[in-house]
Amino acid sequence: MLTVQPHHYILEIKPYVGGKSKAGTKRVIKLSSNENTAGPSPKVMEAMANAGEKLFRYPDGTYLELREAIGGAHGIDPSRVVCGTGSDEIIALLIHSYAGPGAEVLYSQHGFLMYRIYAQSFGATPVSAPEKNLRTDIHSLLAAVTPKTKLVFVANPNNPTGSYISREELHELRAKLRQDVLLVIDAAYAEYVDDPSFSAGDELVAAGNTVVLRTFSKIYGISALRLGWGHCPPAVADVLNRARGPFNVNNIAVACGIAAVKDQEYVRRMREQTIAERGRVAEHLNKLGIIVHPSAANFVLTEFAETGKTAAAANAFLLEQGIIVREVMEYGLPRHLRITIGTRQENDELLKALSDFMAA
Ligand SMILES: Cc1ncc(COP(=O)(O)O)c(C=O)c1O
Repeated sequence: MLTVQPHHYILEIKPYVGGKSKAGTKRVIKLSSNENTAGPSPKVMEAMANAGEKLFRYPDGTYLELREAIGGAHGIDPSRVVCGTGSDEIIALLIHSYAGPGAEVLYSQHGFLMYRIYAQSFGATPVSAPEKNLRTDIHSLLAAVTPKTKLVFVANPNNPTGSYISREELHELRAKLRQDVLLVIDAAYAEYVDDPSFSAGDELVAAGNTVVLRTFSKIYGISALRLGWGHCPPAVADVLNRARGPFNVNNIAVACGIAAVKDQEYVRRMREQTIAERGRVAEHLNKLGIIVHPSAANFVLTEFAETGKTAAAANAFLLEQGIIVREVMEYGLPRHLRITIGTRQENDELLKALSDFMAA
C-alpha cells in the first residue's frame, strides 16, 4: 500500500488537456494545437538527419551554440538566454524559483492555462484578473496585485483569444508594477504580429525585472522537439541555470533549433502565409455568421453566439469529418472554438466543412 502522500496542492490540479490528435477517421486535419502545420524549414530537416550521429552523447549543457544562434537572430546577448524543454519548462522554472506556498502568481482571465497549472504545481496561489472584450487589461492586472504577488504573466498575443496589448500598454504595466514583481511576457506568437505598435518586450529586459519567453513550437514548426527560451536579466538567468536540469534540452532539439533560428527567411514566409490565410479564413467564417475575434496569432477564436448553433455541435461535426479544432471551455469560453490556421488546403477543407455545418 502506498502511504507516502503528495503535496496536497498537487491533487488540486486539473490536468492540462492538450489539443486532440485523433478523430477516429482515416484522414485527420489537426488544427487544435496552434502548430505550424506546414512544418519546419527544409534546413531543419537536414539538421535533424545529421543530428542522429550524436545520440550517444550528452548535450553540451551550456547550450552556447544554440544561445549564440538565438542571440544573433534576435539581437540579444546570448548570456541572457536560457533554453528549456519548451517555453513551458521556463514557465515552470520561473514559478518554481520565485513563487511557492504563500505567493501569488497573477495572469489575465483568459490567459494561457499553464500559468495556473504550474502555480498550483509549486503550491503558489493562481490569481486571474478580469479582461475587457477578451483582451488583457493592464489596469485590472495592476488592481489585482497584492503584497504576495511575485510574478505576473502576460501572453502577448494571448492564447486562446489571439488578442494583444501594445508596446505602450506593456511599458505602462511595467512602470506601474512594483519593482520586486517579475513581469513575464510570453511572446510565443510574437512572430505573427504585424503591427508597428506591438513589441515582444525585449527592450524591458535590461531593467532587471522582466523576462520574455519564446518558443520553437509555433512559427518554427518543431513542437515535437520541445524547445523554447527565455530572454532574462542576468540575475534571473543565473537563477534559472541553477534550477534547471544540467541537460534539459536534447541534442536533436539543439541541432534543429540552431538551423531553425538561422533561417529567418523561412520565418518571414510563414508569417506572410499565415497572415494571408488568417484573413481569408476570418472573412469566410464571418460570411457564415460565425464571429471571429481579431487575432494577431496563427489561430482564430471563433464564437457561435448568434448562429443558432453551438460550438459543441460544430466541434462534433468537424470531428466526424476528421477535422480537429479546440474547445476552450477550460478557459471559460463555452460558446467558442479555437481554430489553428493551417495550410491553404487544410483551411479550404475546414471552411467547406463549416459551411456544410451552418447550412445543415
Ligand atoms: C501562450 C503560450 N505560451 C507557451 C506555450 C508553450 O509552448 P512550448 O511548446 O514552447 O512549451 C504555448 C503553447 O501552446 C502558448 O500558447
